[in-house]
Amino acid sequence: MDANTWKRQAAERALEFVEDGMTLGLGTGSTAAAFVTLLGAKVKGGLDVLCVPTSEATRIQAESLGIRLTTLDDVPFLDLTIDGADELDGELRLIKGGGGALLREKIVATASDGMIVIADASKRVERLGAFPLPLEVIPFGLKSTLALIETLGADCGLAGELRLRTLANGEPYRTDSGNLIVDAHYGTIADPEMLDEALKLVPGVVENGLFLGIADLAIVAGPEGVEVIEASFEELGEEQS
Ligand code: A5P
Repeated sequence: MDANTWKRQAAERALEFVEDGMTLGLGTGSTAAAFVTLLGAKVKGGLDVLCVPTSEATRIQAESLGIRLTTLDDVPFLDLTIDGADELDGELRLIKGGGGALLREKIVATASDGMIVIADASKRVERLGAFPLPLEVIPFGLKSTLALIETLGADCGLAGELRLRTLANGEPYRTDSGNLIVDAHYGTIADPEMLDEALKLVPGVVENGLFLGIADLAIVAGPEGVEVIEASFEELGEEQS
């Protein structure tokens, strides 16, 4: 079996948490796309859900599958968000944003009663940071923003290249909100909470890819099978038992 199979297995298990009439946040990336595909099949079969996509890519996919969509302007609070991650640790702290959608992903997940992370086992780590931390930054004042990130990162004991994400043609990558992405190659992040607080002090950083205390449940599929990891509150797990 390969990573795509495991992504689909995690997505399949997440689907068990979806109930008729729910409002859902739909994540971004290949694992979330596997979930959206399965959700589309359920919708064709009669499941009634109303969804907010976390990116234009997900919006296009969901629309093509006939999934009913709305916005947070019309539905400010959602029942459940299902999304992938670039890394997750045992406390369900995440790094997200490899696909560049971290800002909308965090807005949608935070607006949801629950968040389920779906991932293949390669995403499960002991400590966050092998995956470069994506930062969504405002184009204005980029050099000042980078300098401040560097200084505050050093205060957290972190060094490493801050790399502006670019497209194949060399142009800066732009998020769905028109911002830039800087990938911080820190290596192991010993204290994610401290770094999160520090990055919040940088006016040019719109959001960072650390999702701390947001995910409630993770479904991780790999060669050992499908593992369900619960965070502090058990409501989602209890509903299933
Ligand atoms: C998108 O911005 C990311 O947060 C994705 O959730 C993350 O990159 C996981 O993507 P894959 O499921 O494609 O690995």
